[in-house]
Amino acid sequence: MKPSKVRLDKLLSSLGYASRSEIKTLLREERITINGDIAKKADTKVLHEEVQFDGKPLDPPSGMVILMHKPVGFICSHDDGEGRLVYDLLPARWRMRDPKLSTIGRLDKDTSGLLLLTDDGALLHRLTSPRHHVPKVYEATLDRPLKGNEGAIFASGTLMLNGEKSPCLPAKLTVIDDTHVTLEITEGRYHQVRRMFAAVGNHVTALHRSSLGTLTLGDLAPGEYRILPEDESV
Ligand code: URA
Repeated sequence: MKPSKVRLDKLLSSLGYASRSEIKTLLREERITINGDIAKKADTKVLHEEVQFDGKPLDPPSGMVILMHKPVGFICSHDDGEGRLVYDLLPARWRMRDPKLSTIGRLDKDTSGLLLLTDDGALLHRLTSPRHHVPKVYEATLDRPLKGNEGAIFASGTLMLNGEKSPCLPAKLTVIDDTHVTLEITEGRYHQVRRMFAAVGNHVTALHRSSLGTLTLGDLAPGEYRILPEDESV
């Protein structure tokens, strides 16, 4: 579909550069260009790719997907009162984007690893639906040595978690040594991996998500992120 032109002030405010009233100041300061010419009027109709801010192309339009290496200690929430947020790792103006960026599912504060964020509501809905079974691989460190029956219990599709009405879908345990494993699950229940190990009498002391579907972290360091090209989404 051919992208349609929108008002310059609407475009810039939706990307979080400034409110519609603040854009008048940016125009006076000559910080915005359209096809290389200094923009003069807030109501000029433009295409996203025609506009530059401070000599740089604009941030991606809505519909973006971000792959982040979430560090331990950051929270998947919009509420500032709760501590350091994963959104603090992104450019400050992205907090003002409309539509808003949200995490696709959550990782606990104490879990690190691959986290996706998007402002695409339909994608968010599809990927967080209980019917969506994309495989997710977690690396877990355990407090106590494995007993030996955990792999069979997790694979059985009968493991009930406290307070849940249906058993966990079959999950695949790979043993690295007696306190280090990887676990592949296809659901996203609350604290699922920690609760699965609690259900077999163990305790997870460190947890890291290494992949989601075909996506991996590659060489992203904790706290780093990249914008996924369209052909790389989940
Ligand atoms: N399972 C957990 O226990 N925590 C996470 O963050 C993700 C899966």
